[in-house]
Amino acid sequence: MPRIAVLTSGGDAPGMNAAIRAVVRTGLAKGWEVFGVQHGYAGLIAGQFTPMGSRDVSGIIQRGGTMLGSARCPEFRTGEGQRKAIGALSAAGVEGLVVIGGNGSQTGSHALSQMGFPVVGVASTIDNDLAGSEVTIGVDTALAVAVEAIDRLKVTASSHQRAMLVEVMGRGSGYLALLAGIAGGAEAVVIPEIPTDPERVAAEIREAYDRGKPHAIIVVAEGSSPNAQGLAAYLAAHHDRLGLELRVTILGYTQRGAAPTVGDRILATRLGAAAVDQIAAGVTGVLVGVVRGEVIATPLDQVVATRKPLDPRLLEVAHMMAR
Ligand code: ADP
Ligand code: F6P
Repeated sequence: MPRIAVLTSGGDAPGMNAAIRAVVRTGLAKGWEVFGVQHGYAGLIAGQFTPMGSRDVSGIIQRGGTMLGSARCPEFRTGEGQRKAIGALSAAGVEGLVVIGGNGSQTGSHALSQMGFPVVGVASTIDNDLAGSEVTIGVDTALAVAVEAIDRLKVTASSHQRAMLVEVMGRGSGYLALLAGIAGGAEAVVIPEIPTDPERVAAEIREAYDRGKPHAIIVVAEGSSPNAQGLAAYLAAHHDRLGLELRVTILGYTQRGAAPTVGDRILATRLGAAAVDQIAAGVTGVLVGVVRGEVIATPLDQVVATRKPLDPRLLEVAHMMAR
């Protein structure tokens, strides 16, 4: 009976559990054995495999996080770590691996694939910085959390005519900040892709007040330079000249831990099932993602070689809507 394994790696994303469930149940439906690997690549190297039945994934579709656990595993970045992982997979008789994770995790699955092991990646990260999928598992939920917070911050900001710097996640990608800014009606968005001049941010806050707004909401991606704390420190240091009263809220990990939205549950279920279908069809060394509403498989070498750009039209829209 064919035997496959599934793991979750890197930053956890709401919907990972739904993807695990889909992998397990699709594999079982094909009459295969499915193993869960604990703690991402760390568990893979250590050979931590657990057989999974249909009941083992009951009641998890609505839960954030990952029942398998995740990890950042420096050892797996080395050739030796990767060889150990393949040794553990072979010892357990596993013939195919599904890796649910983001950019770094898929770089890891590409390495395994290059070494000849059959791997299929599932696009999952709240950062939405992975080529091969227009949207990745976890983004919809992370945005919902951020926008709910922005709505609340706007209420209190308006009462005091304050400016609010709201920091959202996004190590190297401004996608979450940009989309949260559009959906939350922010006055400005600060992202890592565009160098930030604190004077420009101050001017945008001032202009918002001049246009009659009772507040100014500035959404800042965590990876921006400066980040929200840095901007706040600059604006405070120049308070006498700029005269801005502002507060900082760092949403941080609250965006990662939420229960997945309907959108993320469906996306994760589609992608998890598709990953197993790819293995069944003998197509590996690919990432499954969604492009124009369709589930498609993109070769991992293409995925890891491509930097996903931010849509410049979204930047324009964000700017126009801030008027
Ligand atoms: P994400 O997958 O969410 O982007 P990371 O970038 O932390 O998260 O990557 C998760 C794990 O993937 C890392 O801890 C490491 O084990 C593995 N990984 C990341 N980059 C590489 C790489 N260049 N080569 C091999 N494995 C990698
Ligand atoms: O990759 C998703 C992400 O949430 C990034 O936006 C963030 O910088 C990073 O994970 C933080 O991850 P951790 O602190 O768990 O290593």
